[in-house]
Amino acid sequence: MIFDLDMIKALYAKFPERVDAAKKHIGKPLTLAEKILYAHLWEGNASQAYERGSSYVDFAPDRIACQDATAQMALLQFMQAGKSRVAVPTTVHCDHLIQAKVGAEKDLANAKSQSSEVFNFLESVSNKYGIGFWKPGAGIIHQVVLENYAFPGGMMIGTDSHTVNAGGLGMVAIGVGGADAVDVMAGMPWELKFPKLIGVKLTGKLNGWTAPKDIILKVAGILTVKGGTGCIVEYFGEGAKSLSATGKGTICNMGAEIGATTSTFGYDESIERYLAATGRKDVADAANEIKEYLTADEEVYASPEQYFDQVIEIDLDTLEPHLNGPFTPDRATPISEMSKVAKENEWPLDVEWGLIGSCTNSSYEDLSRASSIAKQAVEKGLATKAEFGINPGSEQVRYTAERDGLLEIFENLDAKIFTNACGPCIGQWARAGAENGAKNTIIHSFNRNFSKRADGNPNTHAFVGSPEMVAAIAISGRLDFNPITDTLTNDKGEQVKLDAPVGDELPTKGFAVEDNGYQAPADNGEGVEVSVSPDSKRLQLLTPFEPYDGKEISNMKLLIKAQGKCTTDHISMAGPWLRFRGHLDNISDNCLIGAVNAFNEETNTVKSQITGEYGPVPATARAYKAAGIPSIVVGDENYGEGSSREHAAMEPRHLGVKVVLVKSFARIHETNLKKQGMLGLTFANPADYDKIKEDDTFETLDLTAFAPNKPLTLKVTHADGSVDEIVANHTYNENQIEWFKSGSALNLIKLQNV
Ligand code: F3S
Repeated sequence: MIFDLDMIKALYAKFPERVDAAKKHIGKPLTLAEKILYAHLWEGNASQAYERGSSYVDFAPDRIACQDATAQMALLQFMQAGKSRVAVPTTVHCDHLIQAKVGAEKDLANAKSQSSEVFNFLESVSNKYGIGFWKPGAGIIHQVVLENYAFPGGMMIGTDSHTVNAGGLGMVAIGVGGADAVDVMAGMPWELKFPKLIGVKLTGKLNGWTAPKDIILKVAGILTVKGGTGCIVEYFGEGAKSLSATGKGTICNMGAEIGATTSTFGYDESIERYLAATGRKDVADAANEIKEYLTADEEVYASPEQYFDQVIEIDLDTLEPHLNGPFTPDRATPISEMSKVAKENEWPLDVEWGLIGSCTNSSYEDLSRASSIAKQAVEKGLATKAEFGINPGSEQVRYTAERDGLLEIFENLDAKIFTNACGPCIGQWARAGAENGAKNTIIHSFNRNFSKRADGNPNTHAFVGSPEMVAAIAISGRLDFNPITDTLTNDKGEQVKLDAPVGDELPTKGFAVEDNGYQAPADNGEGVEVSVSPDSKRLQLLTPFEPYDGKEISNMKLLIKAQGKCTTDHISMAGPWLRFRGHLDNISDNCLIGAVNAFNEETNTVKSQITGEYGPVPATARAYKAAGIPSIVVGDENYGEGSSREHAAMEPRHLGVKVVLVKSFARIHETNLKKQGMLGLTFANPADYDKIKEDDTFETLDLTAFAPNKPLTLKVTHADGSVDEIVANHTYNENQIEWFKSGSALNLIKLQNV
């Protein structure tokens, strides 16, 4: 058994008591999201009601899932914690580092040889520390999680933003940075601002060409890419119950595209069916015993306005298929309007590729419904105009779809069946000719369609649709093809119409698989060697950061005064740097290279106070470090917004930066800085930002008395000898000050283990 039934039963045993305790404090009926959150409080039974959108609360998640790109640094950090085993069930999934080029077999073999050291590292660390390992080719993390681990009422965190997919089985599943995952792996609580709640009431029933994807495409159009920020979206109503569990997963998956903390659905019969079909009838039986706790209280769905911060209603009877894009997933166009909108915007109408897959839409049902369209094309004498690429979500889906003849249907249209992996969804796509930069259109069933995401070509207009719409549009080769009203010309010159898709929610003969790609960890990993070559360019064992020496920091030179937006992408770029995610020293060569220097308004050109010359930020930082000179970064408002990537805090720390002093922080980055033993400070008077000059030297005056709620003072000596004293606020609590003193949160955990 891969999933942990005992853990689930133990949670369910305390679930009612915890929910009832919460209800007592809140004094009113609860949404599902609240029930799950309160059932996972670190403190156990609730002792108070938390304020949505402002209280910071410690939680105890049930599971952790990591993908291969983010797992590297997470596990390297975990190795620093001095633990012999992860404290919470954890899995690692190899799905991002596999390129789609010619087809599954060759592509997978290539990936295994190109990234063998990364895969071997992840495998051996997993084996040693009790982590379930899913080999390359086993499937896409979120589909594998849905099939094996997700369960109603559970709480999961994962080092990937689409971890939210597991909401389809009634979980609260949230994407986090590696540092957060490491805390939980090491047995620490996980902190989250108590989310606000958005209710989405689904009335009616999907019909004809509409699919679950169209619900979230519509929601994205309503809420936009920011509309869900800080919120959990809870779907309910008759329409919700009529959706398959994997369809619910699709909707929750793309909650990431509206910025939502996560999305979820109440436990119902389709979830029960899916659990049973994926070998987890025991989980469904256990859930049935507390099922009233695994959905909201009746009063909530009867009068949602009273219980949610915002309510949206969508009528599935009248919902149309949508295509969202290009370049942003919230630009929603109903298919009946696409012809007009595409012409107005001069979007290329010829569609070159149709891609079906990604964690969003790669279930058996997705392949089944899309293949019903492909089958008609062959039967009705239609040749597909665009090329087809398919990424099944897991080996279990692929094997079953092959057995049932679904893949053959696509192959009859010359489709390429790529590896069960992310592939084109994360730019791992060797698309012939993409380097020419030609303006073109593709359609896919993925979630993100930002510029360059799929093929690196900024002129590729990518539109997001349901798998069945992708199939129809790829066959027609036209973005403005509306299968509900339009006909196509077949090989006999006749006008033919595609019938609406049909398909199986679950395979009628059941799921099957020969090798699902799972590798269980050793019962006792003590003797397992984790080997990392000292010459590796991609992996590097971490050396613990130095603890605080108990003295004031003096002679600190300004590394950069960043001006304007400085996101985690500006601090630690993605793209080609992804390959160094497991090598702190190599990836540090991208440190702050996207930040704009306030003194020359250029990126990656800062003045060295050693030579007086201008040079790249990382090289300048390395020169200070080599000379034993500490450095400081100054920043503007909302410094570190964007992703929760811990590299943005680890890299400056590695390069000798001691203090990051800004007008304001994005909170997650501020916490990441604290975890890495850095001083993250804010100007008490934001106007003091203007006092910082290019040749400044800094000194702390009262760091030896570092204490909660007590600002620190920095002495700034300018090149002309004049001095300013700057008051800097901080938000360190007692425990976080100990992180600072120990050199990092992990150093402290290790000390506490001894
Ligand atoms: Fe992979 Fe794309 Fe999902 S990168 S995890 S398939 S969003």
